[in-house]
Amino acid sequence: MDFLRPEDYLPKKSHISDWSRYGIGLIGCGSIANTAHLPAYRKYGLPVVACCDVSEEAARATAEKFGIPRWTTDVRELLAMDEVRIIDLAIHPKPRLEVLRQIGQAPRPVLCQKPLALDLEHAFTLAEEAARLGIVLGVNQQARWAPAHRALKQVLGQQLIGEIYSIHHYMRSFQDQPGWWWTKMENFNIVDHGVHYVDLCRYFNPYPEEWSRVHCTTAQLKEQNAIDPLIYSANVEFGPPGGRNPLMASLHFNNIVRASRSHSNTWWIDGTEGSLWCTQDTLYMALNKHKNVIHEIRLKGSWFPDAFAGSMLAFITAIDEGGEPPVTPNDNLQTVAMTTAMVISSREGRTVERTDVLKGSERS
Ligand SMILES: NC(=O)c1ccc[n+]([C@@H]2O[C@H](COP(=O)([O-])OP(=O)(O)OC[C@H]3O[C@@H](n4cnc5c(N)ncnc54)[C@H](O)[C@@H]3O)[C@@H](O)[C@H]2O)c1
Repeated sequence: MDFLRPEDYLPKKSHISDWSRYGIGLIGCGSIANTAHLPAYRKYGLPVVACCDVSEEAARATAEKFGIPRWTTDVRELLAMDEVRIIDLAIHPKPRLEVLRQIGQAPRPVLCQKPLALDLEHAFTLAEEAARLGIVLGVNQQARWAPAHRALKQVLGQQLIGEIYSIHHYMRSFQDQPGWWWTKMENFNIVDHGVHYVDLCRYFNPYPEEWSRVHCTTAQLKEQNAIDPLIYSANVEFGPPGGRNPLMASLHFNNIVRASRSHSNTWWIDGTEGSLWCTQDTLYMALNKHKNVIHEIRLKGSWFPDAFAGSMLAFITAIDEGGEPPVTPNDNLQTVAMTTAMVISSREGRTVERTDVLKGSERS
C-alpha cells in the first residue's frame, strides 16, 4: 500500500540551508519545555542558544540538562543576546502579556504555547498587543503535527473517502491528580487540554466555513480532585440552524477514567465513499467499493516529542519565507472561541453561536 509514507507525515527540515541562523531562546523552563520542547529540538537538531525562567533553579537545571550555552532569569538579558532569533514561549497564559511587552522592546518572532489564552478577551488582547509591538506571533497548537493527526490530514487531502460529513473524536484518559496546576485550573479539561481536540476538529474540517454553534454538556464527580468537570461532550454544527448542513462534529473527552486499560484517543472521519479512523499509532481506512478490506497502517513517531519539532520547524520555515505563522493568532481565536462557547454552553445549558462569542464585526 502506497498512499501514505512516513515522510508524508513526520516532521522534516525544509529548504533552509543553515538552521543555526535561527537560534531559539526558550522562555519558561517548566515541565512541558523539559519533557517535550527540548527533547524534540535535540532529536531534530534545532539550535537552542539560551533559556530563561524566573526560577533560577529551573533555568540553570534546564541549561545543564540540555547543554544550552546560556541561561538567565531576566527576559531582557535573553533579548540582549544577538544569537536569539526565535522566542519559544512556554509559560502559562497569565504572565504572557507582560513578557510580550518586554519582547516588544527588541522584537523577535514568538511561538507561544497553546492556546493563545484561556479566554477570548485575553486572547484578543495578546493578539492585538503583538501586532502593535511588531511581533510575529504564532501559536504552538502542536497536536496538528502529531504523526497520527498529520497522517489523517494527509490522507484526507487525497480525497479517497468522498464528501466528508462527520468528524468524531473519542478520548479517554485520566488527569485528576491532586496538587497539579491542571486540577486547580478553571475549566481545564475544555480550555487547556481539550483545546487540542477542538483545534484538531477545525483542522480536519475540509471546508472553508468555520464552525457555527456548539452545544456542550459536562459532568462533575462527587469525589474528584479537579475544581471543574473532567468530562465533556460537544456537538458542533457547521452552517445555519436546522440540522440540514453537510458536516457535523462530535467531540467527547472523558479525562477521569481510572481504568487505564480502557484509555484511548481515536478520531473517525466519515465520507460518502468511505471512512478513515486513527488511534495515536495506527491509521485505518475502509472504502465502500472494497467491502471486505480494511487498510491498516502502523505509524512511525509519536505526538511527544515529534509534534513539538514539527510545529517549530514549520514556524521557522514560515519566518524564513516571510510568510504568516502556520497557526496565526486569528486562527487560534476561532479555536478559543469554541472552547469559550463550550464552557458557556455547559454552564447555561444552551447552544452557543460562534458569532455571539466573537462579538462585533471585526471579531467575527
Ligand atoms: N501538549 C501541550 O501542548 C502542552 C502540555 C502541557 C502544558 N502545556 C502548556 O504549556 C504551558 C506551561 O506548562 P508547564 O506544564 O510547562 O508549566 P510549568 O508550571 O511546569 O512551567 C512553567 C514555567 O514558566 C516559568 N515562568 C512563569 N512566569 C515566567 C516569566 N514571566 N518568565 C519566565 N519564566 C516564567 C515558571 O517558573 C515555570 O518554570 C501552559 O500554558 C500549558 O498549558 C502544553
